[in-house]
Amino acid sequence: MAIDRSRLDGLLKTERETHRTRTERSRTAFDAADHLFGRVPMTWMNKWSGGYPLYLATAHGNRVTDLDGHEYVDFALGDTGAMAGHSPAATVAAVNRRLGELGGITTMMPTEDAEWVAADLTRRFGLPLWSFSLTATDANRWALRVARMVTGRPMVMAFSYCYHGSVDETFVITGADGGTAPRGGNVGPAVPVSQTTRVAEFNDLASVEAGLARGDVAVVIMEPALTNIGIVLPEPGFLEGVRELCTRYGTLLLIDETHTISAGPGGCTAAWNLRPDIFVIGKSIGGGIPSGAYGITEQVAQAVRDHPEADLVDVGGVGGTLAGNALSTAAMRATLGEVLTDANFDHMINLATRFREGVEAVLDQYQVPWSIAQLGARAEYRFCAPAPRTGTESAAAHDDELEEYLHLYLSNRGVLITPFHNMALMCPETSAADVDLHSGLFDEAVAQIV
Ligand SMILES: Cc1ncc(COP(=O)(O)O)c(C=O)c1O
Repeated sequence: MAIDRSRLDGLLKTERETHRTRTERSRTAFDAADHLFGRVPMTWMNKWSGGYPLYLATAHGNRVTDLDGHEYVDFALGDTGAMAGHSPAATVAAVNRRLGELGGITTMMPTEDAEWVAADLTRRFGLPLWSFSLTATDANRWALRVARMVTGRPMVMAFSYCYHGSVDETFVITGADGGTAPRGGNVGPAVPVSQTTRVAEFNDLASVEAGLARGDVAVVIMEPALTNIGIVLPEPGFLEGVRELCTRYGTLLLIDETHTISAGPGGCTAAWNLRPDIFVIGKSIGGGIPSGAYGITEQVAQAVRDHPEADLVDVGGVGGTLAGNALSTAAMRATLGEVLTDANFDHMINLATRFREGVEAVLDQYQVPWSIAQLGARAEYRFCAPAPRTGTESAAAHDDELEEYLHLYLSNRGVLITPFHNMALMCPETSAADVDLHSGLFDEAVAQIV
């Protein structure tokens, strides 16, 4: 059934008005934020629907409250940063102990937690050697430098509409001529992206091979499923094909599982037996305390050690003065050891399946031409059917109006999904009743626009 656009327009106006009247204290705080660029502490916070963000009062488990005292079931979960739930008890206890009892938030000295965390990352993802950062962006930046150094090659391959943090090399789309084009909106890249990057399309091995065959690509950086332009799942054989092509053309494979750890305790890498040369993760592993990590194989490590120019202790190894600090490593140890456990993943994945089935039932009932994809504990609907196969196809399905209507319909009734497109993530405290609340509201929202 087609969407009734004029009805959608009218309903959107009503939802905006409801949002304005029920979140007055957030709006007042936003209007008073004269010294913040964009009126927010980080400019992407303006992505929330309704013209201004809800202001946070409290957050525990999968519940947040705003300044006006409304409680929300939170499926946004800090866009994965809070996948372990808000302020998980084990993480809070470890952080409190470090902060208060032991002291030493950052000291330039290692703690024994770091080796525990690295060993756990090896157990989960397989790579033997790890370093830490405070963000996944920084981990990716460092990893690209290592890859360029050990291969002696200048170029990076990235997929159209990928996102790996604010990493200049990765802001690419496929241009009209099929070549690398800059993704609109990047701020101040040092050089045109066509000088650093070959673009490929997800699920299109021919485009990967065309880019690698010239022999100058150091590394393919990829998520095993795209998650930042909706979810685009890999087709059978695609990831194995990328691995084979990387090996054939002497290119390293960097798998970034910052979001796709939703697939299970060892992310897609364990679930699908991937074999990256470099691995990056961030966000969730510290329970929200800034944390990131990059893993490398012994071969990559040896190539770095052998490289005559590599000064890892001073210039070349600097991933941030605060990287690997005692607070961050304590948070990672507690979160990985006690919260992102196999049992909790089972619970979260079951609920995401329930979420997907709830949405599918509504799409079937109203014959709406949308799709929903699930990757373990996360699920996301997209305004096209069948589900997109590439980033470019997924980008074409974007619809601002529909997105704002659905987001406001949900938030006005106590449910948050991520402000970036339509992602819902489960955490250990999410319940079946929370998922069913979303399914019911989604049904009501869709019923009114078809
Ligand atoms: C796949 C992926 N990599 C890296 C990042 C960057 O993470 P951060 O913003 O914590 O640096 C993101 C952020 O969304 C991401 O989705």
